[in-house]
Amino acid sequence: KRLAVFVSGGGSNFKSIHEGCVEGLVHGHVAVLVTNKPDCGGAEYARQNGIPVISFPKTSSVPMGLSSVDLVTALRSFEVDIILLAGFLKLLPVELIRAYPRSILNIHPSLLPAFGGKGYYGMKVHKSVIASGARYSGPTIHFVDEHYDTGRILAQSVVPVLAHDTAEELAARVLHEEHRLYVEVTSALCEERIVWREDGVPLIQSKA
Ligand code: GRF
Repeated sequence: KRLAVFVSGGGSNFKSIHEGCVEGLVHGHVAVLVTNKPDCGGAEYARQNGIPVISFPKTSSVPMGLSSVDLVTALRSFEVDIILLAGFLKLLPVELIRAYPRSILNIHPSLLPAFGGKGYYGMKVHKSVIASGARYSGPTIHFVDEHYDTGRILAQSVVPVLAHDTAEELAARVLHEEHRLYVEVTSALCEERIVWREDGVPLIQSKA
């Protein structure tokens, strides 16, 4: 399968997915990197590794910087099958979501539905988890719908919140687990190992 990864920041998840593809853990190929921040670490990594970059810095007249029709057309021209959001901080246009049904994933650094939704990103998530007294956190990978962090949950992984954690320490522990989980889940999606329960919940089948 051909992947488009959408990144706004450092891109460590993007890097681990790309490495998973190169090493053959994921039967996929990163066809294009899409970003609203052309200078971000993820875009830099893409350029260094010969991965095409689509960038659309936001302008006042076009909120996404590129019309949604153009974006769908661009992704089609790269023959993209699957879209992975990895630290991408903008809502996707509805036309794009409709063009890729059941094919767009996002990763969020908390156990959704807790600590998700608009405003929960970056260190805010981890600070809120620590302040709540929750003893566990961890990444959630979910399908993307038209809102922040509300699409169907596909996979989660649990990490402990330690008594004296700082937000940075918890973030690092969660991020480490994100890398493992996103590679595993992308592999399942590329191999068509996702089945949909009657009530709409997606399940991952383990390898035969
Ligand atoms: C991750 O914590 C992810 O869960 C969130 O944004 C962060 C991206 O990190 N959506 P990176 O850019 O992949 O290093």
